[in-house]
Amino acid sequence: MRGMEHATVIVGVSGGIAAYKAVELVRLLGKLGVDVHVAMTRGATQFVTPLTFSALTKHPVEESVWHLSERGEIGHVVLGHQAKLIVIAPATATTIARLAMGLADDALTALVLASTCPVLLAPAMETNMWTAPATQKNVATLVKTGRYTVIGPESGALASGAQGMGRMSEPDLIAWHAEKALTPQDFAGVHMIVTAGPTREPLDPVRFISNRSSGKMGFAIAERAAMRGAQVTLVHGPVALDPPRGVHAVAVTSAVEMLDSLQALMKRCQVLVMAAAVADYAAQKVAKKKLKKQDLGKKPAIALTQNPDVIATIAKAKKKSTLLVGFAAETNDVEANALKKLRAKGLDLIVANDISAPGVGMDSDDNKVTIYDRRGVVLETERSPKTEIAEALLKTILDRL
Ligand SMILES: Cc1cc2nc3c(=O)[nH]c(=O)nc-3n(C[C@H](O)[C@H](O)[C@H](O)COP(=O)(O)O)c2cc1C
Repeated sequence: MRGMEHATVIVGVSGGIAAYKAVELVRLLGKLGVDVHVAMTRGATQFVTPLTFSALTKHPVEESVWHLSERGEIGHVVLGHQAKLIVIAPATATTIARLAMGLADDALTALVLASTCPVLLAPAMETNMWTAPATQKNVATLVKTGRYTVIGPESGALASGAQGMGRMSEPDLIAWHAEKALTPQDFAGVHMIVTAGPTREPLDPVRFISNRSSGKMGFAIAERAAMRGAQVTLVHGPVALDPPRGVHAVAVTSAVEMLDSLQALMKRCQVLVMAAAVADYAAQKVAKKKLKKQDLGKKPAIALTQNPDVIATIAKAKKKSTLLVGFAAETNDVEANALKKLRAKGLDLIVANDISAPGVGMDSDDNKVTIYDRRGVVLETERSPKTEIAEALLKTILDRL
């Protein structure tokens, strides 16, 4: 789906204590569907066995330049030519120095020299080794070639027991960079705002009116758009999700706060995706103190007032060129209601989902949607994970940019 399946990715492991984290990195890269091969320095084999990597990747580990494949091929050359990406994690001071000098005296450095693909370098070493002028010069030499991107290192607990700079970045961050390097950056330069989650309208200091929106759909759109190179701002209500990597997240609570935040942000934006479930009503009066049973009298009732219509307000205020995408979560007459909303609010696209169907829509991991523009149906999806729905929507958006 993401166009990177079966791409050859080499994980180069050199001899540092963080070599054990490379095992997790290989597993995470495997989950992307890429074909992972591992090359290890001799030093690396002191820390983790090649058997572990072979079992995970289903390929023999490249450990030596002195062997040919069963077909008589020179392994590091063949793999070097196939590689779409090389990730060196951990990259020791020694391996960085060897790469900077252009040596090819082990399987890992020979493979890098025999390839032309981008290289991600995740250094890991003791603080003085990292700040040493020789290491810094070597890293600068590699970066200057334009082929290398350095990830980390970070500050934290080191293998020596000390705290300091030199700790390898965590495998999930390295895997995220790898996925980005393998993903076509077709949204590069596009500013996008995505709204997500519910809004919360207070009744008193402890109670509120809200809805079942989990924010998962909007978060998935923001995450995938950022992965494809967009500059994404995610304006979200109260949710139990971590902001996606590479996304600027703005947390708001009420519908009014969401509207204020959007109005401040929307000037430079080319695409607005409004996936938030904004409350239509708020309490007319918010009690300053916690309401007691007796405060509500014999016939308890909450007087409501209508919230501003966030989408309609934004539709009026936006630049003509800004693409506006809305969502319609409906329990009945899905198509009719979605098209009515699209026209009434001046949207370019609307993503409609039937939330009465089991297992899809609000608060679930899957969705099944129909995307409409002013002329009618653009796309109807199967029930799929929200990340895949997000990709389908992004493709529809890209066709219109
Ligand atoms: C327990 C232990 C941990 C080490 N950790 C690191 C490290 O994190 N980073 C590093 O650059 N070197 C580390 N070294 C030193 C390297 O293993 C050594 O410099 C070796 O030559 C690296 O060679 P290679 O890059 O070819 O694997 C460590 C050595 C030992 C014994």
